[in-house]
Formats: sequence, structure tokens, C-alpha cells
Amino acid sequence: MKSQSIRVIFTGLCLAVASISTSGSVARHDRPKEAPKLGVREDIATMDAEHPTLVSYRKAVEAMKKLPADNPLSWQFQANMHGALKKDGNHEGWRWCMHGNWWFLPWHRGYVYYFEKIVRKMSGNEEFRLPYWAWEKEGQNVLPVPFREAKYKGKANPLFDETRVEANKGGALRPRGVGSFARDWEAARRTARFTTPFHELSFGGLRASKATLPKKPRSLEHGVMESQAHDLLHDTVGGEKGNMGDTKRAARDPIFWLHHANVDRLWNRWLDGRGHHLPDPATDKDWYDQEFPFYNEEGKKVVVSVRKILDLAAREYRYDDERRIFGAAKPEKEKPMEQKVVSVGAVRPMLKLGTRPFTKGLVLAEESRPRFMAALKADATDVEPPAVLLRVEGIKPPKEAPLAFEVFLAKKGEKPSPRSYVGAISFFGRRGDHGHEEKEGFTQGFDVTEVVQRLRTANRGELPELEVSVIPHSTAGLTAAELAKTEIEVPISNITLKLVTVDKK
Ligand code: C2O
Repeated sequence: MKSQSIRVIFTGLCLAVASISTSGSVARHDRPKEAPKLGVREDIATMDAEHPTLVSYRKAVEAMKKLPADNPLSWQFQANMHGALKKDGNHEGWRWCMHGNWWFLPWHRGYVYYFEKIVRKMSGNEEFRLPYWAWEKEGQNVLPVPFREAKYKGKANPLFDETRVEANKGGALRPRGVGSFARDWEAARRTARFTTPFHELSFGGLRASKATLPKKPRSLEHGVMESQAHDLLHDTVGGEKGNMGDTKRAARDPIFWLHHANVDRLWNRWLDGRGHHLPDPATDKDWYDQEFPFYNEEGKKVVVSVRKILDLAAREYRYDDERRIFGAAKPEKEKPMEQKVVSVGAVRPMLKLGTRPFTKGLVLAEESRPRFMAALKADATDVEPPAVLLRVEGIKPPKEAPLAFEVFLAKKGEKPSPRSYVGAISFFGRRGDHGHEEKEGFTQGFDVTEVVQRLRTANRGELPELEVSVIPHSTAGLTAAELAKTEIEVPISNITLKLVTVDKK
């Protein structure tokens, strides 16, 4: 019922959105000469090899790869806008990828938006819209076929990237874990807010202050959509040394753009959720006003704000599973809140993660137990329910890490299972190229409220003894036994359990 009525409104909205947006500010953005047609980004799984979208993408990628790196329309320049190796040299338009702050989603939206325009130009296909790779869907956690083969019709396949190893073999990308991209996405989808003071409760990432160009905004811990559904995909496609696993090279892989079209689509799917909305334009002006440089299809630099990116994108494409138009929707006003956080438990002693699984008791702090129990039992009709966070702190990313970890919180003696899986730790965007992580390490937290409440309910209202398990998985195709024979150490400082209570002001 709901979806039907929304679909009826849909066509009407197109016009409304177009007329609102043309009257918007035109200060420093790229103004399209004529109103673009609203195109549809479609699921790559629905396309055969000769689908016009794929034909155009191959053609454009091939042409772009022939252009020199200083040409903004070239493959190399486009990739360098995301990140670049030292030896690539410097350019003001390079190394802009926003990771670890609340611009992760809008920056990548803008990046993919202009790239798509360039593909249209380079392929001569005005209808072209990027396909998306829905890795969270059943059966789609394998690299799409058109990207796997080195040759296409007897010639080099422009969509192939030989730096991937396992992914090119066409196997499932997380074959041995309990977790999956589907589960990680489900967890991300349940996140209630776009931004909060806690990365594990923020769908879109942590608030950072606005930077004035050419300065870049700061990078902090990764939000839920980034760390749980996005980072690990990079690492599993990249494997041990592949382009996708490294921010400095990721966008050289033609699959990068389909991955990000999907992240962009999942952002919209998250917005479908009840009460989910973008940052508040009144209190979060910084988010909307932040500007970024991109390059348009004429190779000209354009400086656009997040507000403008949302507006441009909403006019130019929608996804094939879209029920309403996003970006132009007015967010509801959010009540100001005050969060309090206390430590309620820890795993000790905990010095490193490695290539073998471990399970350790989570010791609750006696002094905070009464408060913790009271919060869990509170009948949350008026206040937001408390959140319980499990945090792996001070993770020092190794130089090369062909592995990722799955984390579980269970009742003592219970084996890790899908029910106790709380999320993954991976290393994409964590290796110092985004700030502090190399020295102090990064923190990966998980919202474990549901797991804790389930354990408590199953135990007649009392919290049972808890255990944390961390299981390593190779992203380079090794079995658990083979991985256990390798020596990789990932120092961490602690694993803690935190209680967050929220009072509405
Ligand atoms: Cu900026 Cu998926 O990377």
C-alpha cells in the first residue's frame, strides 16, 4: 500500500524538484546548460555482456585509459582524485576522498556523479548511467562476470583489473565467515541516525568541522555504512595487494565505481527507513555548506557544496528500486539530545589480534553494574533506549594485512554464530593515509544493544557471563589453517563495553 501511493507521487515530484532546484543559489557550482533527463541506475546483475550500459562503460574506460594523467578526463586523473601514490606527483584536484567523517557519503556521491558524466561524454552514450553492484543481495557477493575476464571478444577487457586475485576467480567474497555483506548491511540499515557522537551509532559518519578549501576536512573513526558494509568489500576485492584494497589506488579498478554506486543507493535505501533523515539544515549547516572540487565532463574544475551535490544528483539519476526522490526531501527537525557514556566492562589482558581465533571473557565492572542493569531494564517510552557499544580500541593497522576479523559477543561457552555476530574489522582507509591511525591505532565499535538485550531476556532478565570472540579471515584466499600458519600481528589496546544513555533535553 505504502509503496503504491508513493509511486504515484513520484512522477509529480520530478517536476517539483526540478523547479525548486533551478531557483537555488548559483554561487560557485557547475550549472548545467539544460535540464538533464532523470536517468536510471540499474543493477548490474540484470545486464548481459552486450547491454548498452556495459558496452558504453567498456568504451569509455578504454578511451580514458589512453589519455595522459594530467588530463582530468583520463582514467589516472580520475583515480588520483580519490587517492594517489607518492610517485604520481601532486595536483590540487587529487587525494580528496572523504573517509572517516560525515562527508563520506556526499563526497563519493559527487565524485561518482561527475565520473558518470565523463563516461557519457567518452562513450558518446547520453543515456548512460552507472550500473550498481548490489553485493548485499543474495548470490551477488561475487565480482560481476563482465569484470572478471582478462579478455573480452579476443581483446583486452577494459573492465578487468589484474591486481585482484581471488575476486577474479568468481568465488564468494566472504566464503568462510559467519558474517556476510547482507548481515553487515542489515546492521547498517538499522542505524537510527545519520550522525551522533559515536561512530558505531552513526550511519553516515562522525561530525567534523567544515574546512575552507584548499584545506581538507579531518578524518576520524568510520561510520557504520562505511566500516561495516563498505570497507570490507574493498579489502575482499583487493585481496592481498590489489588496487581496491588501498585508498590510494582503489579508483583505478573499474569495479570501484559500481561499488560506490551501490553505496550511494544504499544510502537512499537507508533513508527509506522510518525516522531516518539527512543532517538537520539548521544545526548541521556545516555538512551542507562544505565544498569540494570535482572535474566536469569538459575537464573543468567545479567547486560544489554538499547541498548542491544532493540537488544535482537528485535531478540526474535515480535507482531502479527507488520509491521516492532523495536529497531534496526536507529532513524532520531532530530533538537536541545529551548523551552520556560510561564504561561498563572490558576484556583483559588484550594486546593483539592475530591469525588465530580467540575467545575471552568480558568482565563487567562491578561499580557500574547497577547502573548498567537499570538502563537495560528501563522501559524506554519517553527516552531513547540506551545503547551498548562493544569497542575494539587502538587497533594498529599492519602495513599489509590480507585479513579481516569477525567479532562476536555471546554467552559464555556459546559458539560464535550468526546470532552473536556483531560486525567486522577491516583495514581499508586505515593505513595512515587518512591521519592518525598508524600511531595511535583506530577504534572499531559495534552497536551490540540487541545482542545484549537478547542474552538478558533469554536469561530471565539477568545478564549472563559474556564472551568476546574475534575470528580472523584471509582476504587472500587462505583457509583458516593456512592463515594460522602465517605471522601477522595486529596490536590493539583494549576491548571495552560502553553504555550510552540518551536524555532528550
Ligand atoms: Cu573512497 Cu570506497 O572509497
